[in-house]
Amino acid sequence: MIRLFTKTVVNIAPRNTRCIASLSALNDTYQMLYKTCRDFAEQELKPNAARYDREHLYPKDAVKKMGDLGLMAIATPEEFGGSGLDYLAYAIALEEISRGCATAGVIMSVNNSLYLGPLLHWGTDKQKSDYVSPYCAGDKVGCFALSEPGNGSDAGAASTIAKNEGDKWIINGTKCWITNGYESEASVVFATTDKSLKHKGISAFIVPKPIKGLDLGKKEDKLGIRGSSTCSLIFEDCEIPKENILGEPGLGFKIAMITLDAGRIGIAAQALGIAQAALDVAVDYASKRMAFGKPITKLQSIQNKLADMALRLESARLLTWRAAWLKDNKKPFTKEAAMAKLAASEAATFVSHQSIQILGGMGYVSDMPAERHYRDARITEIYEGTSEIQRLVIAGQIIKEYGV
Ligand code: CAA
Repeated sequence: MIRLFTKTVVNIAPRNTRCIASLSALNDTYQMLYKTCRDFAEQELKPNAARYDREHLYPKDAVKKMGDLGLMAIATPEEFGGSGLDYLAYAIALEEISRGCATAGVIMSVNNSLYLGPLLHWGTDKQKSDYVSPYCAGDKVGCFALSEPGNGSDAGAASTIAKNEGDKWIINGTKCWITNGYESEASVVFATTDKSLKHKGISAFIVPKPIKGLDLGKKEDKLGIRGSSTCSLIFEDCEIPKENILGEPGLGFKIAMITLDAGRIGIAAQALGIAQAALDVAVDYASKRMAFGKPITKLQSIQNKLADMALRLESARLLTWRAAWLKDNKKPFTKEAAMAKLAASEAATFVSHQSIQILGGMGYVSDMPAERHYRDARITEIYEGTSEIQRLVIAGQIIKEYGV
């Protein structure tokens, strides 16, 4: 099903929305995908993003349309119902979707990378048919439950327990900060099956939802990406079938780390989309705003800002595409994904901050999208590993490369 290519592509980008220059070096598949996503973002997401944010509204219809376009399972093989593309395609698409709406971006990212990713890699045929195929077309979404109230960055310290009793696992504990927590109909959950083994005792499970013994915590009231739901998953004697373990017992920490390596490419792409949207609004406003008898784009102080914004954004995009390309070519990409996420999330924070500065008072009010981009950007430095964790991962890989 490569629905992405059957859609009529109309170039409706407004004059002030520039195309990504480096895209012209890529083949028709990526360019077609980019245009499809750009058109969808312009027509369906951008006009509604402020409402999703204001009303904390999960964009159900938009998610379904993204599913129809093949965007909810971009790198999932066609045999399972996905689009059969690669991570570079995923990064390009996710950036454009996030440029239209960062909320839609994170919903898409979690389903593609954190949920479908591990199921495709470690799932049995039966698990794939039950938990991959129904999650490709936007009808159902999945989530990923790693963090806990007592451990976020220290992912190996999981205290949620899964106990084997006959033909079932019994799960007890609380998982928190779960994106798509409310809407998801299945979750990849990490729990310890042998606490004495520390991270080597963590296993991964597939938990369908709703299910007896699993309650949801309150919907978190967030600074940004307010249309997506974030909540805790509270397990109290939740029984799942024995065959719902993903991979081998004790493989959970590795599954989480390998999954997050890929997920970080997605969050980098989401951050790029937010940064691009913030730059778009800044250039548009500056070209119209008059001061000292001329548009402020003629002022060097504004030009310096625009140059710095574009530099950070475009450098981060190249890092993101490099990480995706390495993954697609089956090369190690842990360091590169961490670099991409670090650079892109810090670029998003910087660019959206400067965008508000260029808009002045208009940047500070919700009549314009700049303040939303600023709020949306902030989480990209936190979830799927904080900037501090990305630096730790990068340094760890460098030390390994030097063999010291
Ligand atoms: N790929 C494969 N294996 C890896 C790996 C990787 N990227 N990183 C580590 N490992 C392996 C190591 O090789 C080691 O293996 P052995 O036991 O066989 O030797 C093992 O994992 C332990 O490695 P470390 O000693 O490096 O582990 P650590 O305890 O020091 O932690 C860490 C490393 C990088 C800090 C890790 O805990 C981490 O990434 N923390 C951040 C977690 C995170 O990103 N959380 C976000 C949750 S998802 C989310 O945000 C919610 C959402 O819905 C969006």
